[in-house]
Amino acid sequence: IETALAEGPLTGRRILVTSGPTHEPIDPVRYIANRSSGAQGTAIARALTAMGADVVFVTGPADVARPEGAHVVEVETAAQMLDAVQAVLPVDAAVFAAAVADWRVASASDSKIKKQKGAIPAMEFAENPDILATVSQMASGRPPLVVGFAAETDDVIDNATAKRLRKGCDWIVANDVSPETGIMGGSENAVTLVSDDGAEHWPRMGKDEVAHQLAERIAAALG
Ligand code: CTP
Ligand code: CA
Repeated sequence: IETALAEGPLTGRRILVTSGPTHEPIDPVRYIANRSSGAQGTAIARALTAMGADVVFVTGPADVARPEGAHVVEVETAAQMLDAVQAVLPVDAAVFAAAVADWRVASASDSKIKKQKGAIPAMEFAENPDILATVSQMASGRPPLVVGFAAETDDVIDNATAKRLRKGCDWIVANDVSPETGIMGGSENAVTLVSDDGAEHWPRMGKDEVAHQLAERIAAALG
């Protein structure tokens, strides 16, 4: 178990980490979700805390234990996550590890939708705000270092490189989440760090080790 250092390379730095899935309600008893466990984001928050950072951890509903020593903000939906993130700024660095739902149900029902013979409910979707792009493109108060993630199943590097430019973040931590890799929900990760300098492939390692390496890079970048 890592504990916060009184003095570390990130002492005095305030860092935001988003993590976990979001849940988008259909009605009071049903929701749309995704397979994110929150493990990688939690490990990053732990690693940053262990290096002395003052970490604010904004998380969707995840089953993993919350990072000790971090300030934890629990949210459910993408809209709530954006509000929480905006309330946390300014920060020295922001790491967006959350698997934010891309769409929400346009008009969630306030009461339970009842099953009726022969009547299958039609559902309309609305696009959720892109939290990473919103923060990356802030005209003032943009964090000096913004790190996004890109979980892809195809053309990982090309997609991640395009994503970095489209959203305007500094780094993208890209990974292949094809079912055969076993990464989604597993304890290991194989990532590529995409930055202005190009794509750097890291060997497959534990999520804790990925977190530790990323925290070191963040400390080096913040100087
Ligand atoms: N992200 C976000 N808000 C969203 C969607 C994504 O902040 N509404 C962030 C994620 O936390 C991640 C990065 O953007 O850091 C990339 O997420 P991803 O789902 O890979 O990108 P999308 O732009 O949603 O593209 P797609 O799902 O089509 O691949
Ligand atoms: Ca997405």
